[in-house]
Amino acid sequence: MAPPPCRTAAPLSGRTAAPPSGIPRWAARAAGAPPGTGADLAGLTVAVVGLGYVGLPTALGLWSAGATVVGIDISDRRLRAVRAGDVDLLPAQRAALACAGSTDQFRLTTDAAALRTADAVIVCVPTPVTEDRLPDTAALRAACATVVGHAAEGQLIVLTSTSHVGTTRELLTEPLAARGLVAEENVLVAFAPERIDPGNQRHMPEHTPRVVGGTGPLSTRAAAFLLRSTASHVHQVADPETAEMAKLWENVFRAVNIALANELADACLHLGLAPVPVIEAAATKPYGFMPFRPGPGAGGHCIPCDPHYLLGQLRRDGPATPVVSAAMTALHERPARIARTAAGLLAADGIPAGRARVLVLGVAYKEGVADVRESPALRILGLLAAQGADVRYSDPYVPSVTVDSTVLRSEPRPHDAHGEWDLVIVHTVHPGTDLTWLDTVPRVLDTRSPKGPPLTPVAAS
Ligand SMILES: NC(=O)c1ccc[n+]([C@@H]2O[C@H](COP(=O)([O-])OP(=O)(O)OC[C@H]3O[C@@H](n4cnc5c(N)ncnc54)[C@H](O)[C@@H]3O)[C@@H](O)[C@H]2O)c1
Repeated sequence: MAPPPCRTAAPLSGRTAAPPSGIPRWAARAAGAPPGTGADLAGLTVAVVGLGYVGLPTALGLWSAGATVVGIDISDRRLRAVRAGDVDLLPAQRAALACAGSTDQFRLTTDAAALRTADAVIVCVPTPVTEDRLPDTAALRAACATVVGHAAEGQLIVLTSTSHVGTTRELLTEPLAARGLVAEENVLVAFAPERIDPGNQRHMPEHTPRVVGGTGPLSTRAAAFLLRSTASHVHQVADPETAEMAKLWENVFRAVNIALANELADACLHLGLAPVPVIEAAATKPYGFMPFRPGPGAGGHCIPCDPHYLLGQLRRDGPATPVVSAAMTALHERPARIARTAAGLLAADGIPAGRARVLVLGVAYKEGVADVRESPALRILGLLAAQGADVRYSDPYVPSVTVDSTVLRSEPRPHDAHGEWDLVIVHTVHPGTDLTWLDTVPRVLDTRSPKGPPLTPVAAS
């Protein structure tokens, strides 16, 4: 087996060799640093606040580039899982964790006091939505308040959590100034949205460009310097607000296009056409088209959440956003349409939902990860269970899920029971999943490659 891809930079022992002497040190680094990867960050201590799906790979990327990394998370449970390697990572990141975890240059703590000794701080805490699909900034506000409270002269603070436009100034720059730490004078502050795509081996973070917008040129350059070693290149913009909006634009674009793909897929089915060959044909156009596929809805921590940070902000006094609003409503309703269509397929063959055995194949929100946050599968399972169906699921990445307070465990060999399923709903197809056995199942509702019938509309909510 190949050795883990440990970093090439010579690590320092413990704290940085020279304490930060203020912004000129950062300015000199940023101005004089050659582009490239490897040893760029040697000598810097970087604190990463929030070691989740984004923060952990970020911390590993910075460590691989030579930095001493202090990972700070409020969850002791999460830190134990990281230490044990019991986390969702790509193979290369997992190898880096095995390597980093055995050094003094990769430390994990729940103690926010560790922030004081960092040259740079990266904030990667969650920005979910509430039950009512409104922005929930509680974790972000708490984390930023902690960072501000422990901020030290000369520090670079980079916010990477997706949030509404103006967040960086509101939660960092202004409270820092109230403490006497003025951006561009005593501290450096920037926003750099994350683009990590968990489970995606084709677009690794180090091969993906980053956008950086600082509160001034020094902040932008210092943040670009810090992140350059962990990205293919850095695109600098004029201010944090441009970078904040760029992230929202990216994910609104995806949300609207996913909703559009679902709508046009339903139109195809109504017209007696399989949508996927139509999409593949359209995708041969070399310009002005990007293929999106239909699916069971949108899950994860980005697409179902991020657009609401824009909608929530504009709702107060902004322009109308009917296209984005309709897309988000359609995505939210999609799992209910899948559940109704499933019940309809069963009913067409005289099987009441209350007597049916239904298997959902794949419950992670997307392939290659164990993440079930906002996964449409959970709502599909819950809605069918509420009708009395005997619902099961199979997902090698997800050993158990809780659906409306009932714990379900993954069926390890669903094909062995192929004769018992009245219906299989294909939700997420992980790499290597064998679907050939579905030929022997009487009813299959493939949400990714639907063959018909059109999904049943839900009543307006
Ligand atoms: N998951 C993705 O695919 C993805 C991709 C790009 C951007 N983002 C954005 O990145 C941000 C983080 O998302 P994530 O998926 O990594 O979240 P996550 O829930 O996986 O991880 C967040 C971590 O932050 C910790 N945390 C919460 N409050 C904290 C605090 N006050 N101090 C220290 N730690 C704290 C939590 O314990 C958790 O371990 C979000 O804004 C998200 O929108 C996510």
